[in-house]
Amino acid sequence: MYIQDATFNVNREVEIKGWLYNSRSSGKIIFLLVRDGTGLIQCIVSKSDVSAESFEDAKTLTQESSLIVKGTLHEEKRAPGGYELIVKDLKILQIAEDYPITPKEHGVGYLMEKRHLWLRSKRQWAILRIRSRIERSFRDFFDSQGFVLIDAPILTPTAPESTTTLFQTDYFGMPAYLSQSGQLYMEAACMAFGKVYCFGPTFRSEKSKTRRHLNEFWMLEPEVAYISFEENLELQENMVTFVIKEVLKNCSEELTIIERDIKLLDRIEPPFPKIYYKEALDILKKNGKELQWGDDFGGDEETILSQKFNKPVFVHHFPAGMKAFYMKPDPDDPTTVLAADLLAPEGYGEIIGGSQRIDDYDLLLKRIKDYNLPEENYKWYLDLRRYGSVPHGGFGIGIERTLAWIAKLPHVRETIPFPRLLEKIYP
Ligand code: 4AD
Ligand code: MG
Repeated sequence: MYIQDATFNVNREVEIKGWLYNSRSSGKIIFLLVRDGTGLIQCIVSKSDVSAESFEDAKTLTQESSLIVKGTLHEEKRAPGGYELIVKDLKILQIAEDYPITPKEHGVGYLMEKRHLWLRSKRQWAILRIRSRIERSFRDFFDSQGFVLIDAPILTPTAPESTTTLFQTDYFGMPAYLSQSGQLYMEAACMAFGKVYCFGPTFRSEKSKTRRHLNEFWMLEPEVAYISFEENLELQENMVTFVIKEVLKNCSEELTIIERDIKLLDRIEPPFPKIYYKEALDILKKNGKELQWGDDFGGDEETILSQKFNKPVFVHHFPAGMKAFYMKPDPDDPTTVLAADLLAPEGYGEIIGGSQRIDDYDLLLKRIKDYNLPEENYKWYLDLRRYGSVPHGGFGIGIERTLAWIAKLPHVRETIPFPRLLEKIYP
């Protein structure tokens, strides 16, 4: 039996295979708190119920020792999780050495070095289960709307985002880069399948040490042929709302463990507020941050803006040239582009970047040249503007930043099983 299935096994003989989370003893009874990956259960080892040998064995169990217990399952309101196992038999697989993560407080640096073990802690368990649910909800949302999942390559000759954050590698004597984004490939795919998305790891050699940056993160990137800028924003609002609702519905235990106040999540409904980049500059100025037209927001600016609203907020119409080369200028004001970032509330900042893409061949070629990108490697991408070009757009949402906000975490390092941080690749 898995602990999560306890409700279906009350008053039955069951076997639980797991690890010792904690134990205490009161003479004739030993209380073992056992985890099996799906939950925790209290197991009662009583001198009168088990063999003398098993009772002695139970005393030797250390934190994280592996064991298999058999017994009868009872409902017990006072026990953690609401059930209790009266043990009849106990088998030890391995007595764990002195476990380096004890219930006392440890520093984050220390815990990061022990990430392979830290994953077993309750809080990390809760966070990564929410991550799993978010990923599943993203996919449910798009799959149910007829999007096709198209996997993007990881080794690429192109740089969709800034060329300063590329991880370069050698590809049979040619330079290749770890993918920063699957977007360019999704643009090709949406012309073949209409509505597509990719979902995979992306890499940025960001030299910044902030609570928002990872060097390897997971991004979901939908791309839709014939979509308008407004429809693209609507798609994002509906997706974010759906994911929040799914997490609230399915992760109440996890949210309780991490002590997330869910009131602010509960009220998230479309439409989300939308402000022009120019308006964002005004808000920032009023808050003592004077930025010039064309300046990008740093972490502090995003924090200020996202604290002004109690829902996610779109900042749109950035100055042309400030962001990526492929963004389409607004025909009504070509000094700005049809792009929007979605900033999460409670100070979290950007979780989505999206835009309309340039669909005109000549303009795209000019941009590729203006940005000093090697034209050779973008020939296929330009082809998409030669054979039935259509208006299209999409966006990318980072899983880790989304989770950091939903779980209200102080840093993205806890949102991914094995974070890749500045100059840190162990474990
Ligand atoms: O704004 P970005 O760079 O946009 C793109 O990559 C587009 N090509 C997406 C598209 O339109 N298909 O990144 C999108 C999102 C950000 O909003 C953020 O959530 C996440 O990816 N992200 C990061 N997350 C963690 N660490 C980093 N270093 C990140 N860089 C971007
Ligand atoms: Mg961005």
